[in-house]
Amino acid sequence: MTYAPLEPQGRVIMISGANRGIGRAIAGRLHAEGYQLSLGARNAESLAGVAAEMDESRVLAHAYEARDRTSAPAWVAATVKRFGRIDGLVCNAGVAHIFTVEDKDEAVLDEMWEVNAKGPLRLIRAAFPSLKAGGSGRVISVVSLSGKRIPAARSAGYAMSKFAAAALNHAVRLSGWEHGIRATAICPSFVATDMTANVKEIGRGEMIHPEAIAHLVATVLTLPNTSSVAEIPINCRLEATV
Ligand SMILES: NC(=O)c1ccc[n+]([C@@H]2O[C@H](COP(=O)([O-])OP(=O)(O)OC[C@H]3O[C@@H](n4cnc5c(N)ncnc54)[C@H](OP(=O)(O)O)[C@@H]3O)[C@@H](O)[C@H]2O)c1
Repeated sequence: MTYAPLEPQGRVIMISGANRGIGRAIAGRLHAEGYQLSLGARNAESLAGVAAEMDESRVLAHAYEARDRTSAPAWVAATVKRFGRIDGLVCNAGVAHIFTVEDKDEAVLDEMWEVNAKGPLRLIRAAFPSLKAGGSGRVISVVSLSGKRIPAARSAGYAMSKFAAAALNHAVRLSGWEHGIRATAICPSFVATDMTANVKEIGRGEMIHPEAIAHLVATVLTLPNTSSVAEIPINCRLEATV
């Protein structure tokens, strides 16, 4: 029996929030690996800057606004029109706000629900027919360790949205299995991006490098259908269980 990893060449991967942070690192890594990329972001200017550094024959830059329910199907349709297929989807775009159980203004909670949980759902739903068609579709969700445990009271709302994203990942595993779709939730603690710019409890040099997440995504994308990885917790410090 020979080992047959999936090769990057000819495969089309969509990445949300590809203009900065973890999404940008994933985009750079997958471009270097040889994938064709469909990059989604709401900030057209910074996304154009990322795409400009890439081989234009292998990249599409498209608007993606998670709070607009028409945005995911429009981006998916543009990707199919350009490349004719979708082999993988990296649901990365996300927001983090402080929200505790005593906060009465739910505006930030609603935003986190919409961007972190419903955004991936809408993308996955729109891309599902194409992912099914290929027989080895991949869905990778950048969730969080806050989708597995609650690190602090101020993270209540963020963790609620990320637990939902983790649940979605498992639902995708179940819905997609017979069609060859494999789904993975990557669950990091602190990653050194804009999102953690104001974190004081740990130095930036001690945080996970965004390239480490990109490395995991690149590895998972090559695994064959017989090697399903449901979740990857990744931490930069010692915690009792993760
Ligand atoms: N940094 C961490 O410590 C950490 C840890 C665990 C998990 N994560 C998760 O990793 C993912 C990436 O985070 P990051 O650290 O790279 O954060 P980041 O640097 O703040 O980037 C967030 C990305 O999400 C996009 N985004 C936010 N709201 C959006 C919306 N409404 N529609 C479309 N895109 C939207 C942003 O686009 P704009 O540029 O337009 O704002 C940006 O591309 C998120 O899901 C986050 O929850 C991060």
